[in-house]
Amino acid sequence: MPADEDRPGADADAIALTFPRVSLGFFPTPLVELSNLAAALRGPRIFMKRDDQTGLALGGNKTRKLEFILGDALAQGCDTIISAGAEQSNHCRQTAAAAARLNLECHLVLGGAEPRQARGNLLLDKIMGSHIHWAGDHRKGEDIPQLFEQLKLAGKRPYVVPYGGSNELGAIAFTEATRELLSQAGDIPFTHIVFASSSGGTHAGLMLGKIIHGQGYRLVGIDIDKEATGEMPFDQHILSLANRSAALLEVDHVFTRDELTLNPHYLGEGYAVVGDLEREAISLTARTEGILVDPVYTGRAMGGLIQMIRGGEIDSHDTVLFWHTGGAPALFAYSEALTPGG
Ligand SMILES: Cc1ncc(COP(=O)(O)O)c(C=O)c1O
Repeated sequence: MPADEDRPGADADAIALTFPRVSLGFFPTPLVELSNLAAALRGPRIFMKRDDQTGLALGGNKTRKLEFILGDALAQGCDTIISAGAEQSNHCRQTAAAAARLNLECHLVLGGAEPRQARGNLLLDKIMGSHIHWAGDHRKGEDIPQLFEQLKLAGKRPYVVPYGGSNELGAIAFTEATRELLSQAGDIPFTHIVFASSSGGTHAGLMLGKIIHGQGYRLVGIDIDKEATGEMPFDQHILSLANRSAALLEVDHVFTRDELTLNPHYLGEGYAVVGDLEREAISLTARTEGILVDPVYTGRAMGGLIQMIRGGEIDSHDTVLFWHTGGAPALFAYSEALTPGG
């Protein structure tokens, strides 16, 4: 890929120097070409960045974010981690693993009521010794302030890892991931990078990485969840996060709405409702490449990519990178939806 001559200010190395980081995963993750999938689709060359192979308790994109976020927690002298997510949260599973690795107590506030049987990510959360608090019908993270105070009263030094690990530090991890990708990519002329976008940190970090490294590819975030994260509409949330992260890195660039591609066409019946799109993407990727994408995030994003190729939105002159952000442990919690009729 071309060098970084025109980048607007930030030295990517500054990331390594400025922010405390703990080592939790295996980096760089592999960059592979999916020639069988490309042949099956009769479309463009397709590459995959295998962040499902980050190595932390079955991997995923949160490992990168947690290296920076928990680096900050340790620098602040914290001994207890709190985070929140859905019952099958990949973020919570990786947070539980990171906390175990770093000898930190881990509290997870999970949505809904405790299921009869712990499967997939929830099973792994339990195996890794996290304390699980069921939020019932409370909103995402609503119970965190109270839990924070309780833990403080009990003499702990708690630290809140934000939903999905999507704050400035989480985003910066994906700015750094852009440098990693480009150092592997040589002269592969990526025209599109396609990925699942849900709490926005991956998206915001990749936007910033693109600017810092002066790249021309199009970043296509496939929207996963109709419900906006936090107070603002999701696109505004990503923009705001990208701009706050740019300011933190002293990058001289203000992102505007036209620099953000968030594709809303594959939301289906809603968050974590598996449909034909996800089922086909999971089985096609597995049967052509022996690679597992997940029912909630990467299955939906891969389904979106497949549809964009079939519809001609991405054609054989293009070169696509699919950023595999992990999630396969959730497959084990979705057997009914993945094999309807048995
Ligand atoms: C497997 C997987 N892919 C993608 C995402 C979305 O990443 P982000 O939250 O940074 O938008 C998540 C987030 O939970 C995830 O678990």
